Amino acid sequence: MTIFGRFPASRMRRNRREDWTRRLVAENTLTPNDFILPIFVGEGEGRTDAISSMPGVNRYSVDVLDDVVGEAKEAGVPAVVIFPEVDPAAKTPDAREANNPENLVCRSIRAITETHPGMGIICDAALDPFNSDGHDGLVVDGYVINDESVELLCLQSIVQAEAGCHIIAPSDMMDGRVAAIRKALDGAGYENVGIMSYAAKYASAFYGPFRDAIGSKAALKGDKKTYQIDPANTDEALRQVAQDIDEGADMIMIKPGLPYLDILRRVKETFALPTFAYQVSGEYAMLKGAANNGWLDNDKIVLESLIAFKRAGADGILTYMAVEASRLLKKG
Ligand code: PBG
Repeated sequence: MTIFGRFPASRMRRNRREDWTRRLVAENTLTPNDFILPIFVGEGEGRTDAISSMPGVNRYSVDVLDDVVGEAKEAGVPAVVIFPEVDPAAKTPDAREANNPENLVCRSIRAITETHPGMGIICDAALDPFNSDGHDGLVVDGYVINDESVELLCLQSIVQAEAGCHIIAPSDMMDGRVAAIRKALDGAGYENVGIMSYAAKYASAFYGPFRDAIGSKAALKGDKKTYQIDPANTDEALRQVAQDIDEGADMIMIKPGLPYLDILRRVKETFALPTFAYQVSGEYAMLKGAANNGWLDNDKIVLESLIAFKRAGADGILTYMAVEASRLLKKG
């Protein structure tokens, strides 16, 4: 054998030559079953507001959710995630609106359950949409305090479960929250409500457009480095995932997505739990910004960016492109 291997007897290009051989040897596939659609909701009626830093993504009032979720269902997407833009007047330092059973999230859950009973509904456990400080937990003397925040997250999880949410996704990164939420849900009779833990959640600048969408950017004082993971670290994410599984997480999420595929791969290989990646708002903005300028081919980049997650080991992807990608797949 030479450094050229068995060439010319072995020709790697043989399997790449025809569309049918390429399809036969494809190692990964995308289907609408892989997607979870995040949806932004706001107060008012008849609203479909464009989010300027996320071209093509809107914020909807509860009364129009029927159509939006209907489109996702029609496209074959199994589940949605609800993110609220809370009225600034309802945001307080104690984030009490988070556990109001009539809050925007709970009203959205009930509206979706009523019109689309088979649709999976996932909601964050985190205080940032409700907190006048814009943080995921309570702020005391400039520091996000842990245990008292966890108590509130438990109450928030219970009102969401009561409204009909199927999976609670703690995105706050407080210590011990998965165990506490599991215990709270079980205690309230919601032992079948699952937990998808944002276990490997990084202190990332890729969340910028999301904070525009839910109106938490202006409020946010400082950054989230005292609770989200440092982008420099890998082992720490693995320890965090191990802990969250030990505490009762049913599913694990890695976030952001494309810049953290190495983490996704290691987590999936190490723990073999259902593992999800979040293609976050900043990734969406980057891809769409380039596509809308004609610098990238939109349809191709949508699908290529998503298959990358499957290749890295994801069981599913939270993506703002869920409906668009499903339609593209159908088109073939
Ligand atoms: C809130 C939360 C964030 C995202 C999901 N849940 C933002 C943050 O942690 O600041 C980001 C999602 C996105 O950027 O698309 N805890």
